[in-house]
Amino acid sequence: MIEVRNLTKEFKSPKKYPGFIGAVKSFFTAKYDIKRAVDNVSFDIAEGEMVGYIGVNGAGKSTTIKMLSGIMVPTSGECTVDGIVPYKRRKENAKNIGVVFGQRTQLWWDLPVSESFGILKEIYDIPKKRYEENLTYFKEVLSLEDFFLTPVRNLSLGQKMRADLAASFLHDPKVVYLDEPTIGLDILVKDRIRKSIRELNSLHKTTVILTTHDLNDIEEICKRVIIIDQGKKLYDSSIDDLKKTYGRKKEVRFVLGENVRVTANLALEKAMKAPKGSIDIAYPEGEIVVKFDYDKIDTSAIISTVLKKTEVRDIMIEDVQMEDIVKQIYAGDIRLR
Ligand SMILES: Nc1ncnc2c1ncn2[C@@H]1O[C@H](COP(=O)(O)OP(=O)(O)OP(=O)(O)O)[C@@H](O)[C@H]1O
Ligand SMILES: [Mg+2]
Repeated sequence: MIEVRNLTKEFKSPKKYPGFIGAVKSFFTAKYDIKRAVDNVSFDIAEGEMVGYIGVNGAGKSTTIKMLSGIMVPTSGECTVDGIVPYKRRKENAKNIGVVFGQRTQLWWDLPVSESFGILKEIYDIPKKRYEENLTYFKEVLSLEDFFLTPVRNLSLGQKMRADLAASFLHDPKVVYLDEPTIGLDILVKDRIRKSIRELNSLHKTTVILTTHDLNDIEEICKRVIIIDQGKKLYDSSIDDLKKTYGRKKEVRFVLGENVRVTANLALEKAMKAPKGSIDIAYPEGEIVVKFDYDKIDTSAIISTVLKKTEVRDIMIEDVQMEDIVKQIYAGDIRLR
């Protein structure tokens, strides 16, 4: 559905110097700064895939999405979306895609949501029956009814986002780009938005590229993740792979019985027969916390050893958090293979 080859975008801006004299100097010199926002990026995305596109602020995510949606022309390289080169055939491409930029709305500021939708129906030439079916669906899953007749400028952030999401899906697009669609939303609305994206994807096989700083969005919606850094593609694989390859630590937390007092002298590490360095045991008040490499030792071995040694009231197992891994990748602490 999406093919991206050596996609590159450079921004050229007049060289800036500080202060008033600097401003005059920038005005008269013909020097330019060149910023390569997207640098030689290639990937393919199949129909129906939902891919997370992540990276730190300024990494080049939005710029990529702008090229894929035809708003920006690449400096070099190419991309096609459903066989169409977006910036060459903008109108045709627009019929195939839906876009949400969480930072700004695509709806008409002064019009009620209902009328914005009416305009979109005309623009996209959505057949009446289809439009009404979709509208009913979105009104229900995103609870648009409460503010359907309110002017967009009076909507709260979360209401606007729900309206925007519905607007981007109204014409049954084949591809949807969601650029921070859950920014500033409360947890219930976030949850509803994630659910409806998943549902729309399974109903219509919609292809989704999702950009967000909330990695829970990615974990709940996508199977695959692309990480970019300073415009370059750093990683492209399944989230499972990412966790298996880089997130080796799991955690089991034991809450001990009321009157049990435990110290390091239980010799747990020895009893678990763990390879050296694969396990790390802490003893906060009333608890035992075991961090371990789960490709070297089984969770069950840890649990059974502790249960044999002492009285336990509760057990909590924490899976590898994607956030921990991604944090280390962004910080440069993990070297990607
Ligand atoms: N129109 C523009 N003119 C000049 N520079 C730009 C322009 N748009 C983006 N840039 C620069 O390109 C780089 C990438 O910006 P982009 O908006 O793609 O980042 P992003 O990954 O979406 O970041 P964020 O997570 O903050 O949204 C930044 O350094 C930004 O300053
Ligand atoms: Mg952005």
